[in-house]
Amino acid sequence: MNFYITTPLYYVNDKPHIGHTYTTVAADALARFHRLSGHNVFFLTGTDEHGQKMFEAAIKRNMTPAQLADINSEVFKSIWKDLNISYTRFIRTTEPQHKEVVKKVFAKLLEKGDLYKGEYKGYYCVHCEDFVSPDETDTILCPSCKREVRENVEPTYYLNISKYKTQLEDHILNNGFVKPSFKRNEVLNMLNSMEPGISVTRKNVSWGVDSPTPEGYNIYVWFDALLNYLSGIGYLSDEPLFNKYWPANVQLIGKDIMKFHNIMWPSMLLALGLPLPKTIFAHGWWTLGKTKMSKSKGNVVAPQPLMKEYGVDPFRYFLLREVPFGLDGEYTAENFKKRYNSDLVNDLGNLINRTLNLIDTKTSGIIPDESPYKELVELTEQIYIKYREKMESVTFSEAIEEVWKLVIYLNKFLDNTTPWREECVDKEKILYSTIYGIRNILLLMSPFIPSSVDTLWKMLNLPKTPEEGFGLLDEKLQGGIKTNKREILFMRKK
Ligand code: MSP
Repeated sequence: MNFYITTPLYYVNDKPHIGHTYTTVAADALARFHRLSGHNVFFLTGTDEHGQKMFEAAIKRNMTPAQLADINSEVFKSIWKDLNISYTRFIRTTEPQHKEVVKKVFAKLLEKGDLYKGEYKGYYCVHCEDFVSPDETDTILCPSCKREVRENVEPTYYLNISKYKTQLEDHILNNGFVKPSFKRNEVLNMLNSMEPGISVTRKNVSWGVDSPTPEGYNIYVWFDALLNYLSGIGYLSDEPLFNKYWPANVQLIGKDIMKFHNIMWPSMLLALGLPLPKTIFAHGWWTLGKTKMSKSKGNVVAPQPLMKEYGVDPFRYFLLREVPFGLDGEYTAENFKKRYNSDLVNDLGNLINRTLNLIDTKTSGIIPDESPYKELVELTEQIYIKYREKMESVTFSEAIEEVWKLVIYLNKFLDNTTPWREECVDKEKILYSTIYGIRNILLLMSPFIPSSVDTLWKMLNLPKTPEEGFGLLDEKLQGGIKTNKREILFMRKK
């Protein structure tokens, strides 16, 4: 099975904060889960480099927009490398191949009569790169980000979304298109309150893709950027790749950009006669002081210091474990530390350390060759089924909770069976079973904490590699293996 996952393209007017890393870490965990399930995954991410916001940010820094885009797209690439993000392709909207697709799509829709000429009269929010109609704001603040909007009157080309409204409504009602499903009504309301057309050109914005119109306006940055999901897999140029992966299986976004992804984007696809993505999943926001983290508001948490202090995997783990995917979460340093100490140090770290110590002292560092207890095998099977369901429905924290049932079970199992006591006669079977359980925990956790899993796997000297996938859960764990020298991965933080 082919599986296509995308993230939004990040604006390169500034550097990433933890809100940006959230969508990409989530997409990475999902991509890794599907690879371990044996799927051919295409994972697309990248940067959104055109538009008024980008142009103004560059001017402020005495640079050209192209220079700023070059610098900041590298910053994104480098943080994805540090975060171990396994994307298939990183696309930049300034790439000629992408721009070509945007122009061709625009020309096609123009020719089809889905774009029409008109005049836009209203407001514009530069931060959201969004047209704000006078009905939506009487305070002159953007309804989404609450920043001041600017008056905007310009001749433009509109995309006729009213033509596809009924089709889109059906898709929203009948499929798992809008996720989480509690967002579905919000999307339907948005659809019903939309104007019949969305403006898709900008007259006075010079930094963008030229439209193939006599007036030569630039193409609106959202029309341009959304098309990356097609150009990134070879639309209009590489048919086999495109046919293999379109329609996308899961497109991850933040809830602030639902209007663009749940209404504008599918309308563009319907106009192009293409199938619609299966799921658009909108996650919540990381807030700080109860407001959405945002660089221009100055309330951001930078990812790098946290990654440095705690490590890359604890950072990834925290993002996906702390808050149910789809809801907002307030960031506090206190919660980060608590989550780290309780889950990674006390529960998982402790389980692995005590087991390895027991193996050293009781079985001379060798994993005994035994068979696991039936109860543990049955529990693992149940957990795996639930874990799969949770991962397939993109509910990460719940999937991790399932794995944690096994972590907690094994710690209790050791407490109850006391293999450290001389009188304990089943040491071999107990220790073998614990390692069997740990191997399965590592497999299930590898989408979330991949490099820790690799290190622990090597430390235990387990046969095969975690990359061999969930099939390993059914294989007998080979015993009689000498464990390797160990290190403590998760050190308690005061
Ligand atoms: N460039 C557009 C997307 C175009 S996709 C064709 C954009 N870029 S963004 O850089 O502003 O945001 C990218 C992603 O980061 C969005 O999914 C957004 O929701 C997410 N986040 C930005 N701040 C966030 C938080 N404070 N919390 C969680 N995610 C947030 O929108």
